[in-house]
Amino acid sequence: ITDFVSANQVTTDLANQLITRAEEFKHGAQSNLALPIYAANLFFEPSTRTHTSFEMAERRLGMTVMPFDPRQSSVTKGETLGDTLRTLAAIGVQVAVIRHPVKSYYQSLLAEHLPLRIVNAGDGAGQHPSQMMLDLMTIHEEFGHFDGLKIAIVGDLTHSRVAKSDMQLLHELGAELTFSGPKAWYTKEFEPYGPYQPLAEIVPKVDVLMLLRVQFERLSDAEKAEFSESTYHERFGLSDKLYPKLRKSAIIMHPAPVNRGIELADDLVECPQSRIFAQMHNGVFMRMAMLELVCQQPLQERSLTHALAH
Ligand code: CP
Repeated sequence: ITDFVSANQVTTDLANQLITRAEEFKHGAQSNLALPIYAANLFFEPSTRTHTSFEMAERRLGMTVMPFDPRQSSVTKGETLGDTLRTLAAIGVQVAVIRHPVKSYYQSLLAEHLPLRIVNAGDGAGQHPSQMMLDLMTIHEEFGHFDGLKIAIVGDLTHSRVAKSDMQLLHELGAELTFSGPKAWYTKEFEPYGPYQPLAEIVPKVDVLMLLRVQFERLSDAEKAEFSESTYHERFGLSDKLYPKLRKSAIIMHPAPVNRGIELADDLVECPQSRIFAQMHNGVFMRMAMLELVCQQPLQERSLTHALAH
């Protein structure tokens, strides 16, 4: 594939291929990509991990990174995202990593057949394929397989592009998913992937407890006014009281940033069963594998079939 935008494009074979390649990079493998390759990272929403991790991955692959700050760009004068990308391509940028608040922003761009590769670093409450892939890598590293693993995805499901990406592939790879958190956030789109269960019932059974950030920036004013940090933590968070019920072999994941004391107790963020910083570390190697994949494929062979399927 030349554009990596959605979980919909990723077959189980491709997921396993990328995990293998990311593990090779983690163990010191070098890429044989034909350089120079120029990359630009266009982040229209805030990011710490994804932005720096993609840039680290690009640098480790030997790419040249063109700085791009949306606030200082001609997007502020009304230039479209399509024209911005055409401009970057004309200047010589071959791959654009984009985070954007508009869900599925990439669909119209792909239809424009722009002369550069697009990697989605998160689209609103839509998809977050690189987070999905680094999560798969982290689970695979721990257990060596996905089949039959009991994985709970807990928290702000509605706003989470991580949940929506991860559930697709984890389901296809044979994991048994359950969901928890505020019941109103378990909407119809989650039902085909697994049932809702109260957190206290799930915690003793799971292999992976994947907690999600409460996305305050996407809550309505009414939701924000009603929100109580302590009530959320008590009912839907991993508290110090609930933590001992987790199996010793189970791992805690969270895409981060973490709201300490809300999704999980402050002291659990770096507890022995937490893989939160391991996820971030793995993200660099997985993003190297993803960037290598899209840059190896000639643009002339671009196929939109999978990307446009949804
Ligand atoms: N997990 C994640 O996407 O973090 P950032 O928003 O900091 O990139």
